[in-house]
Amino acid sequence: MLERIEELRNEARTAIDAAPDAAALEDIRVRYLGRKAELTAILRGIGELPPEQRGPVGKTGNQARVELEGLLGAAKEKLEAAELNARISGESIDVTLPGTPPVRLGHLHPLTRTRREIEDVFVGLGYKVMEGPEVEHDYYNFTALNHPPGHPARMLQDTFYVDPASLGADPELYGTDGAALELPPGPRDVLLRTHTSPMQVRSMEDATPPIFIIVPGRTYRRDSDATHTPMFNQIEGLAVGEDITLADLKGTLLTFARAIFGPDRELRLRPHYFPFTEPSVEVDVSCFRCSGTGVMTVGGSEERCNLCKGTGWLEILGSGMVDPNVFGFVREHGYDPERVQGFAFGMGIERIAMLKHGVPDLRMFFDDDVRMLEQF
Ligand code: PHE
Repeated sequence: MLERIEELRNEARTAIDAAPDAAALEDIRVRYLGRKAELTAILRGIGELPPEQRGPVGKTGNQARVELEGLLGAAKEKLEAAELNARISGESIDVTLPGTPPVRLGHLHPLTRTRREIEDVFVGLGYKVMEGPEVEHDYYNFTALNHPPGHPARMLQDTFYVDPASLGADPELYGTDGAALELPPGPRDVLLRTHTSPMQVRSMEDATPPIFIIVPGRTYRRDSDATHTPMFNQIEGLAVGEDITLADLKGTLLTFARAIFGPDRELRLRPHYFPFTEPSVEVDVSCFRCSGTGVMTVGGSEERCNLCKGTGWLEILGSGMVDPNVFGFVREHGYDPERVQGFAFGMGIERIAMLKHGVPDLRMFFDDDVRMLEQF
């Protein structure tokens, strides 16, 4: 019995010495000191031994157990410390090594940024941002904006008409779900909207006055040169109440112009014509490059400012007081032309971005050449 205890003790010592990690040590502990271990059984059975063997077996067995427990504990500490050290050195960062080159990040398109800047100004003034359909009925694009069929101003913005057959079975009468369509009055034509102004009428059909909205969105015209593309972006504005005047229009647009082009800007309103505003104005902002003087001092000599072409003014948008005839189309929605009045304006986002950043050709915004886009 004593010999067997010695054998077990030696076996266990060798195993402890060879254990590669803490998990292996735990296995050894279970095997030699656990509840079902041989040594444990020997110590538990001492009472059944002949009396003269009890003393020596108990003593040797207990010594073996205490020694193995000690060895296990020490080995465990050593292995755990080694494991921790290995992990720490594996995770350490050498701050003297060169860094990973930064990932090249993209950014929003300049037109998106310009649109958001303009939206921010008007949201700050209490306006709501709305969107509307790009494929529009003749009624909203023209008729209800005081261009009756045959009105010559329709020609100013002739556009892309949609072939009704491409819209479905019988688009004049049925929607895609087969239900009868309630079509607006007037010509049945469907077209790509030529401006965001149709949303003036649609928004007034949906909400009673007072109303303060802006409408960003894509618009389409049969136009193509350095300052026009067949698709471009506009922001429409509409403010209607009982006592909104031309002075409010000017103050609002001055706030806008100063937020976008700088705090020292001034505005100029020039008489103009739009069928859906009366009076109508075109709005110029004082040139931010030459501070409205029209001249630039370059290297001691005076030159004509090439941004405003020497005029001191930059045209930025069209606007006016909403024509009472337009209210006539939404009278039953709470817009009695005798009671309400207001203003509307519309601007091209590309135009604002071109002026602001000195982009010479509008088409550059749509070429998607990163060498151009990276400059913003
Ligand atoms: N819709 C006009 C255009 O596209 C701009 C405009 C909007 C003018 C609102 C007056 C009022 O040219």
